[in-house]
Amino acid sequence: MSIVYHESSKIFHLYNETVSYLMMVMKNGHLGQLYYGKRIRDKEDFSYFLETCERPMTSCVYDDDRTFSLEHIRQEYPVFGTTDYRQPAVEIRQENGSRISDFQYCSYRIEKGKPKLSGLPATYTEDENEAETLKVLLEDAVTNVQAELSYTIFEKYGALARSVRFFNGGERPVRLSRAMSLSLDLPDSGYVWQQLSGCWARECHIHNRSLEPGIQSVGSMRGNSSHEHNPFLVLKRPSTDERQGEAIGLSLVYSGNFRIQAEVDAHDTLRVMAGIDPETFEWKLEEGESFQTPEAVMLYTDRGLNHLSQSFHKLYRTRLARGYWRDRARPILNNNWEATYFDFTEERLLKIASGAKACGVELFVLDDGWFGERSSDRAGLGDWKANKNRLPGGITSLADKIEALGLKFGLWFEPEMVNRDSDFYRSHPDWILATPDRHKSQGRYQYVLDFSRKEVVEAVYEQMAKLLREAKISYIKWDMNRSITECYSPAWPADRQGEIYHRYILGVYALYERLTEEFPKVLFESCASGGGRFDPGMLFYAPQGWLSDNSDAMERLKIQYGASLCYPISSMGTHVSATPNHQVYRNTPLHTRGNVAYFGTFGYELDLNGLSEEERQEVKEQIAFMKNYREVLQFGTFYRLKSPFEGNEAAWMVVSNDKKTALVGWYRILNDVNGRYTRLRLSGLEPEVCYRNVRTGTCHFGDELMYAGLITSDETAGQVSAGAKPCADFESRIYVLEGIEP
Ligand code: GLA
Repeated sequence: MSIVYHESSKIFHLYNETVSYLMMVMKNGHLGQLYYGKRIRDKEDFSYFLETCERPMTSCVYDDDRTFSLEHIRQEYPVFGTTDYRQPAVEIRQENGSRISDFQYCSYRIEKGKPKLSGLPATYTEDENEAETLKVLLEDAVTNVQAELSYTIFEKYGALARSVRFFNGGERPVRLSRAMSLSLDLPDSGYVWQQLSGCWARECHIHNRSLEPGIQSVGSMRGNSSHEHNPFLVLKRPSTDERQGEAIGLSLVYSGNFRIQAEVDAHDTLRVMAGIDPETFEWKLEEGESFQTPEAVMLYTDRGLNHLSQSFHKLYRTRLARGYWRDRARPILNNNWEATYFDFTEERLLKIASGAKACGVELFVLDDGWFGERSSDRAGLGDWKANKNRLPGGITSLADKIEALGLKFGLWFEPEMVNRDSDFYRSHPDWILATPDRHKSQGRYQYVLDFSRKEVVEAVYEQMAKLLREAKISYIKWDMNRSITECYSPAWPADRQGEIYHRYILGVYALYERLTEEFPKVLFESCASGGGRFDPGMLFYAPQGWLSDNSDAMERLKIQYGASLCYPISSMGTHVSATPNHQVYRNTPLHTRGNVAYFGTFGYELDLNGLSEEERQEVKEQIAFMKNYREVLQFGTFYRLKSPFEGNEAAWMVVSNDKKTALVGWYRILNDVNGRYTRLRLSGLEPEVCYRNVRTGTCHFGDELMYAGLITSDETAGQVSAGAKPCADFESRIYVLEGIEP
């Protein structure tokens, strides 16, 4: 891995074994983008990649050079209004009303490792030899605003982490009205755009489209990264599939309003950008003040989508997620939400917990409803004290009782919210985000607290920290169940109202940082009505997130499959829930619910006492299975094999790091009769290792399983012979393959 600057050609080359990234200082002092892709050999000069030509109807920078128009040059961090008519990466509103800027190259610096982004989540290094960081300083001579572009290249990944820091070195205030984290101009638009979109209970569905001239984008203006669009994008060549081909992944390490967009110009150049949503953002920079953008990570592969995802998984699991739980197998939990909703007493909770314990569960999680006057979702948020009618001895005593059962205890919070009917709101009605003289819209009968104010964050911290100090709490589910409306903070002046969405998220991050630092062994699970804020920003604080409120196994196939494009298996909260399922009222077999949930953190979202003896036995076996294989499942290498978006079957697998164990999950949505023979070509095995199929007892070499395939045909073909168990709808199997000495 190396970052070199070629003085004579003014070219920067960032490369490791996989990728090369080339840019140069152009004659107008701006940075031009030369190349991003598979590693190429370094040399002094690549300036010919900066193609220009004389085109009609073009505005040019120089009187005597009709070829030099920014409109037709691939750039690194394009500005607004100076011969480039495409979307800029930065816009600065100045006192005289101008929005023009002209960022000229000043200097560069190369550092070992990767500096922290203060107050923001970001990838990190543990040893400074893992990465190198290039900082390129640019300055606009009229405003004296500086932009420091930061690029970190990691030794082991085809990943580049980018961000920008602005500093007002002038004497007059300016307003940043657009400050993207990353801009990338690619020489052609021959990519398929792949996004993860959906809505509540249908998160992370994969959508593909080809790029057309004009602008296409995904984003959020809701205050949270959103169920609707994940801050992630893949650009893949049309021929790329899971096993081969070129792809670029873009991922924004941020949990608030964002935009990821691509613009195809008339000459087929592709400009991609990622950053804070410019529509809902403006930041005032007084003299001497600075602004740091969130980090964006771009990852290139020429080895197919599985490789792209595996690289993201590894980077995010080990160099974005942090703390005690990062590398630890996650406890198998039982959450009471779908078991009781708001209808519980301490006695009922203890019954559920002991039933769970008897099956092998390790952690009992008390969800919503334990605090204040919370008997429904209309009251109580903000009052983080136990409801004594339900929990006479409070949380401390309940936690002690749960621990006495031999379980760990976890608790639900929704720290950012308040109900109008709460003591917290009654004592601080002005602590919510609301615009003066305007209607205050509610969502789920709640308001959003003004986390742009330190005193608000402090007051929530005090309540949470008190409980964490007093009671034996091992896990926190941090929920967030509505998006922001009428965004305004009376604590800030009129000319800083454009900062509130971002300041809000900074407040959320600050609270997370403080709590995770003070209570390092507590396992945090992020949640926002399921996957409303399932993003890399959250992963920095909470190593796992409740991926979706939809716990139906068939729906989960799509959600988990989609999310796996970017997010590691260890980050996905996956639970077995009751049937008929509470979201889609579907009945799926218990084994299938387990077989889907194994590929995540695993837990139960029902009262296990309500199951039959036979089912409870099955649950015990599921838990024993998960305990046996969770290290492989959560920390092995994940491969997508068959997409639930494309047919009646889905499949995926995980291979252990030593390649001695593989677990294949195979799922069929609807049953068919007298169907075809089916095989699944596996991935990631050692060709010469012989694997024993634990299900059939047969042995197969890795090459056979990868190239000829694992036979998954249905033995019954619609007939049930004596003693055989019939297949039905929503069938699934887990194939365990254990490497044996040949
Ligand atoms: C959200 C979460 C659920 C549950 C409820 C409680 O919807 O996603 O898992 O915690 O809130 O109100």
